[in-house]
Amino acid sequence: MHLLRPLHGRDGGTLPQLRRRIAHKAAAQDVNYRHAFHAGNFADVVKHVALVAILLHLRKKDKPFRVIDTHAGRGLYDLQSEAAARTGEAAGGIARLEDLSGAPPALAAYLDIVRWAGAGRYPGSPLIAAKLLREQDKLIAIERHADDEKALASALARFGNAKSFCADGYQRLSALLPPPERRGLVLIDPPYEAADEFVRLGEALAAARKRFATGIYLVWYPIKSVAASDALSGEVLADGPENVLRITIDVGREAEGEKDRLSAAGVLVINPPYGFAEEMRAAAGVLGPRLGRNASAEISIADL
Ligand SMILES: C[S@@+](CC[C@H](N)C(=O)[O-])C[C@H]1O[C@@H](n2cnc3c(N)ncnc32)[C@H](O)[C@@H]1O
Repeated sequence: MHLLRPLHGRDGGTLPQLRRRIAHKAAAQDVNYRHAFHAGNFADVVKHVALVAILLHLRKKDKPFRVIDTHAGRGLYDLQSEAAARTGEAAGGIARLEDLSGAPPALAAYLDIVRWAGAGRYPGSPLIAAKLLREQDKLIAIERHADDEKALASALARFGNAKSFCADGYQRLSALLPPPERRGLVLIDPPYEAADEFVRLGEALAAARKRFATGIYLVWYPIKSVAASDALSGEVLADGPENVLRITIDVGREAEGEKDRLSAAGVLVINPPYGFAEEMRAAAGVLGPRLGRNASAEISIADL
């Protein structure tokens, strides 16, 4: 039995009513988050290595697969842009891996794709996925911010089997499931700027799993506190998926007086492919010592 469960409402309404009220209020909010400020940071590295490991697994069989990226971003980021320079986050992430060679397979394949994107650029999840599609596979990438979706469409233009849409990824997801191929990955990587993001995510995931229970789901989340991180895990576990792997990375806090940046993040993988945890452990052995701020980063990989 899972120990982590969603938080309970305290305003007299039932939990589902409370959740729906918060969700509808927040659905109307605009998107402020821009991934350009964070592209290539330590959290992107772990998320994208996990994405590559899953896609390499799906490629082992000839049968086609589909990737659905519900919060896709721009697809390609300029690490010299004003946004990237302002935070300098890639310096604590992908920049620390530039000289790496002889890495374990998933990490090596990820680095190949980053190098393919070109010097000073960083590929986002939809571009990484597109690069790993075979002729028979498909990618649907959804991005709600109109400018970012325009950039995304242009980044994906050369891939005939990848399509982007400007829409709400949560709303669109159910209609896309089950995929005609009946195998594939759903990546859910929201900005977590709305107070109810965990709730919306939990509801969207439960609805998606009703239609596509055998799919692989990769959910990214920031860790700002243990309680919030457990609440997110609780939302994901609420409809009772049996097979969930949690990977977390903690790079250590900034020195006193420096900017208070995100220092820990995680991914939850529902229905992780066979051998995925071991591949991620091998990658973690290389990433931990390189991504830590003060000492080695702590990377934990465990079944929930
Ligand atoms: C964390 S970023 C995505 C990063 C991307 N998945 C990657 O790994 O390269 C989150 C993105 O979701 C977009 N977004 C926010 N709310 C959304 C929604 N309801 N539906 C689709 N996209 C949304 C934001 O504009 C932002 O580009």
